[in-house]
Amino acid sequence: MHFTRHSTYDHADIPVITRGEGAYIWDSQGKKYLDGLAGLFVSQLGHGRTELADAAAKQARELAFMPLWSYAHPTAIELAQRIAGYAPGDLNRVFFTTGGGEAVETAWKLAKNYFKLTGKPTKHKVISRAIAYHGTPQGALSITGLPGMKAPFEPLVPSTFRVPNTNHYRAPEEFQNEGGLERFGLWAADRIAEAIEFEGADTVAAVFLEPVQNSGGCFPPPPGYFQRVREICDEYDVLLVSDEVICAFGRLGHMFGAERYDYVPDMITCAKGLTSGYSPLGAMIAQDKLMEPFLSGHESFLHGYTFGGHPVSTAVAVANLDIFEREGINEHVRTNEPAFRATLEKLKDLPIVGDVRGDGYFYGIELVKDKDTKETFSDAEAEKLLRGYLSKALYDEGLYCRADDRGDPVVQLAPPLICTQEHFDEIEQILRVVLDKAYSLL
Ligand SMILES: Cc1ncc(COP(=O)(O)O)c(C=O)c1O
Repeated sequence: MHFTRHSTYDHADIPVITRGEGAYIWDSQGKKYLDGLAGLFVSQLGHGRTELADAAAKQARELAFMPLWSYAHPTAIELAQRIAGYAPGDLNRVFFTTGGGEAVETAWKLAKNYFKLTGKPTKHKVISRAIAYHGTPQGALSITGLPGMKAPFEPLVPSTFRVPNTNHYRAPEEFQNEGGLERFGLWAADRIAEAIEFEGADTVAAVFLEPVQNSGGCFPPPPGYFQRVREICDEYDVLLVSDEVICAFGRLGHMFGAERYDYVPDMITCAKGLTSGYSPLGAMIAQDKLMEPFLSGHESFLHGYTFGGHPVSTAVAVANLDIFEREGINEHVRTNEPAFRATLEKLKDLPIVGDVRGDGYFYGIELVKDKDTKETFSDAEAEKLLRGYLSKALYDEGLYCRADDRGDPVVQLAPPLICTQEHFDEIEQILRVVLDKAYSLL
């Protein structure tokens, strides 16, 4: 299985999920769970939407397959236009993939190729943030900032470099006072300029950043962070890639996270929520200028995927976006996010809850050993807490979500975007019981 310690199931059954309806899923024993993670940040519209299943069936009957290699098909054209219409600035060029990691690969390859064709052939390096996850293909994994996840596969693609992320909870003391968040954001952004200087601007092609970094437990950008990053990228002629594999399509109450935080990147990578999971699809969206060198003569972007922009997936994505519009999904998230935040923040009275952070329908709850000192758990304690107890206990109580220790231990929450107060309350009540017990076990 993917990212799974198989020995966990030596003496336990692998959960088999057989059915979904709205914000809930059921296992093969008939037990019901609240889908607190939208599968894997995917099921924006929730489960059991027959309209999306019907769109897939209709397309499969009409034209099940045609690649986008020198040919096109109607739903890919329609979807590309829709996406370009939602994307900020002049990000009007869409390249379809089958998922997020491929979109990240595509963005890096396009960045390198673009600079080779525009007289800056040495620009090829990538800067990304500590603890950030960008996917498993070897390029995307190289951009990933999780050394432990990369070690089994080294050497990876060379030429990637890490800068600090925007984890304000763990920021130095000097940034914890009045105005500290904004100063921390500028400090963190300036580390990107520093890394470009250290490497030499003529060698750096792109910076990959998520609007809200997932890995490590939801780090929203401090006010002004992306504006400063944009200035830096412009100054050094480095492409800003907004990796929105999680953050796009309503997760933050907008089609794109860049819109929420008011910046215009050079490229966006996305996947997951584009189809709400009813069929696999990803995309890389690029500024017009990045395509220009490929528009004349003998040039072509020598890159592609057989199943990238699969007709069934693009048909489903168009239907998905139709529902977004019709049901006002982004507005729903924006209206309800204060209630979601407030409900989760109630958990702050528990001694094990150090921080509740996030935006939209996307939160991380950081668990600590000591709230006052923010002391975290030793490796052995984290192992006992997360793997030994938490994940299973949450599941037993009827909440599907993830306890993650790729950075400090966090519980990740990203429910379907249709959720309302009753779901928030259910999440809070289950977390309260399980986290309280976890603390007593320490
Ligand atoms: C920010 C980000 N980038 C890339 C990926 C990789 O996407 P995929 O698993 O679809 O290849 C993920 C997956 O979670 C992600 O969160």
